[in-house]
Amino acid sequence: MSKTIIVSNRLPVRITENDGEYVMSPSEGGLATGLGSIYRDGQNVWIGWPGMEVTEEKDQQRIQQQLAEMNLLPVYLSQEEINNYYEGFSNETLWPVFHYMAVYAKYEQPYWDSYYKVTEKFRDIILSVAEPDDIIWIHDYQLLLLPGMIRAVIPDISIGFFLHIPFPSFELFRLIPWRAELLEGMLGADLLGFHTFDDSRHFINAVTRILPINASANVMMVNDRAVMAETFPMGIDYDKYASLSKEKEVKDQLRELKETFQGMRMILSIDRLDYSKGILQRLQAFELFLQLYPEYMEKVVLYMIIVPSRDNVQQYRDLRDEIDKLVGGINARFRTNNWHPIHYFYRSFPIETLSALYNFADVGLVTPMRDGMNLVSKEYVASRNQNNGVLILSEMAGASRELIDAIIVNPNNIGAITRAIEEALVMPEPEQYRRMKQMRQVVAKFNIAHWVKLFMDRLQEVKQIQQSMLAR
Ligand code: F6P
Repeated sequence: MSKTIIVSNRLPVRITENDGEYVMSPSEGGLATGLGSIYRDGQNVWIGWPGMEVTEEKDQQRIQQQLAEMNLLPVYLSQEEINNYYEGFSNETLWPVFHYMAVYAKYEQPYWDSYYKVTEKFRDIILSVAEPDDIIWIHDYQLLLLPGMIRAVIPDISIGFFLHIPFPSFELFRLIPWRAELLEGMLGADLLGFHTFDDSRHFINAVTRILPINASANVMMVNDRAVMAETFPMGIDYDKYASLSKEKEVKDQLRELKETFQGMRMILSIDRLDYSKGILQRLQAFELFLQLYPEYMEKVVLYMIIVPSRDNVQQYRDLRDEIDKLVGGINARFRTNNWHPIHYFYRSFPIETLSALYNFADVGLVTPMRDGMNLVSKEYVASRNQNNGVLILSEMAGASRELIDAIIVNPNNIGAITRAIEEALVMPEPEQYRRMKQMRQVVAKFNIAHWVKLFMDRLQEVKQIQQSMLAR
């Protein structure tokens, strides 16, 4: 019986240390939910990093045993590997280039060496459990070299790869000194999935410009193996968000929000701390909004949650300081004795709190400079059971290709975001219903289960196509 092996940088549980004890907390992330029914089944397994350094071998073994009960297999990283592979090459080289912020990118040989070595580590752990008829599904930019490394050892195995962040235009991608090696690594997969058509087109373009490989539409021939690059926009667990509002905990929190913000309109913004999210520009737009539309003084709040992330990377620390300053400045400028315009939280919240906020907020404000998909925009839509509320969405987020009934803005255009906030706040209810209903239908239909099935079915088809081509 063949099995499915899921591989991602992080496991769907995170280990933290508390008084010398290791504690495991499951991830609520979309990918973990979507792939839950797969990796928990039979012999299937999910391989990845448990999120912190575990130095003692006896601790490593104990954790490994506990994880095995959940069909999880850890890849332990040393602090040096976390610095150079994860924070370094993944998040200081690939992340900025792939998000069109190449000025932030560092091209350091030790980062690359570590990225290569850690991929070998992942490969060896996969090889310790993989059989030739297994299916391997590898996720994201931290593991671009992995498909090629596995293919070199098991030539006929089925390998799928999905990139969760944008794939940049060739002119950006070519900046990376190790560009050819990265593409060769990716082409070890049989099927490569991207969130948008543009991402897959950029990938194919990079392949044909950088490697001696031609493409016919979305098919690239790699040593007589047909490799396909296709578009699979990722969805969310729609039913979970749509039904959360019926839970007592969420209802209680919603009631509290209604009391606290009585007579007030709420604009909601939720992001991981990241310079790709357009947080500073969004704050500037809100400041301009308060200046241009003073009638909203004491009548509107921006509720802004930033989830801490990658805080060992300098740019992320700098961004946090800038946000602190800007929020402080805006609140100081506009606040009154009874009101301050921005409620800013730098921490994560349980899903029940997020659901109450999604339910309460009149406007969802999502304006990344660049985002592979952006699931927050879909979570806001899925939570709006009354079909009211307005989503303002950046045209640079993958989700803008599907959620076309949002107010779509260019996140660099501060004036346009300002006008969009006003438009959202005065939008007549019938117009809100019309738009929200359309968007909810899209998010409900193209949900996470649909995404997983589509990708897995297509991977099987690609394998069959390859076999029939060989038989000819
Ligand atoms: O968006 C890409 C991504 O890797 C997500 O898969 C993940 O949830 C997020 O960035 C945070 O990444 P990290 O693992 O660096 O905390």
